[in-house]
Amino acid sequence: LCVFAAAQPKILKQSSYAKEELEQYIANTRPELNLRYRLHYHVAPPVGWMNDPNGFSYYKGEYHLFYQFYPYDSVWGPMHWGHSSSPDLVNWKTLPTALLPDQEQCFSGSAIVDGDTMILMYTGHEITDKEPYYNETQFLAFSDDGVAFTKYAGNPVLPAAPNGSPDFRDPKVWKHGKHWYVVLGSKTDDNRGRVLLYRSFDLIEWEFLRVLGESTGDLGYMWECPDFFELGGKHVLLWSPQGMEPNGDRYKNLHQTGFIIGNFNYNNFEFVQETKFQELDYGHDFYASQTMEKDGKRYVVAWFNMWEVPHPEEVDGWAGAMTIIRELVLVGDRVLQKPLDKMISLRDESVINGQVDENQVIELGHTGEIIISGDLEKKIELLVEGRNGGGQALLRWDPEVGKVVVDRAGDVRQVEWSPIGSHSWRLFLDASSLELFCGEGEVVFSSRVYPDGEWNLTNLSPQTLNVEAYKLKRSVPL
Ligand code: FRU
Repeated sequence: LCVFAAAQPKILKQSSYAKEELEQYIANTRPELNLRYRLHYHVAPPVGWMNDPNGFSYYKGEYHLFYQFYPYDSVWGPMHWGHSSSPDLVNWKTLPTALLPDQEQCFSGSAIVDGDTMILMYTGHEITDKEPYYNETQFLAFSDDGVAFTKYAGNPVLPAAPNGSPDFRDPKVWKHGKHWYVVLGSKTDDNRGRVLLYRSFDLIEWEFLRVLGESTGDLGYMWECPDFFELGGKHVLLWSPQGMEPNGDRYKNLHQTGFIIGNFNYNNFEFVQETKFQELDYGHDFYASQTMEKDGKRYVVAWFNMWEVPHPEEVDGWAGAMTIIRELVLVGDRVLQKPLDKMISLRDESVINGQVDENQVIELGHTGEIIISGDLEKKIELLVEGRNGGGQALLRWDPEVGKVVVDRAGDVRQVEWSPIGSHSWRLFLDASSLELFCGEGEVVFSSRVYPDGEWNLTNLSPQTLNVEAYKLKRSVPL
């Protein structure tokens, strides 16, 4: 949270920009970006800084994806909501900034649709003059076109956590029967993360129902960005705990994003947990995920970065990205992440389709989709790196220990993998990212990597692999 306080002085100077001036500023500043790491098919800020996905929703025939946005610098600052929309979750365009800070900074939240109206519920983060120098309450904003938003005059609608904690943020709203429900991230008085559940008839008067989940000590000091939804007949609580201790291969990022599966009923609102906390993604850069449901499918997106690590694109005038959208599927006690079928429409030139011998190099473009299969009885090892260096990552299957390893220049993430179906890997490379989907999506790694120039992929395995590879088309604005 020190990061929230550190960027404070900028507020006075810059949050008073009017909306038109802001859009003009964005248009003027965009041509100045250094484009070397600009992503081709991942949503990124037009200029400046991005963190959490917000308001992931479907409204009047389009998907909407908002995000935590600070336009005036490529580091975190007073939060706005940036905005993108898409017909298909793969091709995105940039819309005008949806929320600008006033007295309150516009922290994370969600969107729902009620008839013709799109409603954003977000956290108003306000600076105070006594410790911890901020307070958080919940705000609403409305739109009848999905582009221009008006803040509700009666804000805040949820003025305080039951225990008065100033950490009270990231509302995720949904409708069930006649009620709206919201989960909010917060903490106990003795600094254990928790999720609070509320309900309302009108989004304005809220009734506190109960604590839906709470750390007993080992799940962190603060729970951010909670999400709660039905999946495959169960309920999943997905959130981002801050402050979990690393434990062997697990929890090696500064903060985690993961889930617990259980049962929930709307009679007593109790969430009966059936599994332990599991990370959703095993890569270096995956945080503050948010889901949405459409036509019975549950989609997830996350901030494709981590707090308090270097963001090499920062010097280029922008920082941060969203992961590709994935579909979530429940199988037993695991939640699979699957790339969307529609991703195939981005395939451009085919680079190879056949056997790749040991030490053979495949020359890709700035992007690539690569499907790899080999003999899992033997070691598989692939080196991805920039044609002129940089961006090195070793992707390895180690049959001795049954683990998939992503070794980003010595910074290792690894996890056991026992395929439940397909034995192949699907790797997505973009100008500064990799996303590795193993098998049916039972193990996924999302990591930012920064190559010099286009990608090379080298087969370092002591075996010949089958490889199908494509360059991919651009689906987001430069
Ligand atoms: C998560 C988070 C949220 C908060 C937002 C502020 O990354 O800390 O809890 O609303 O970022 O930008």
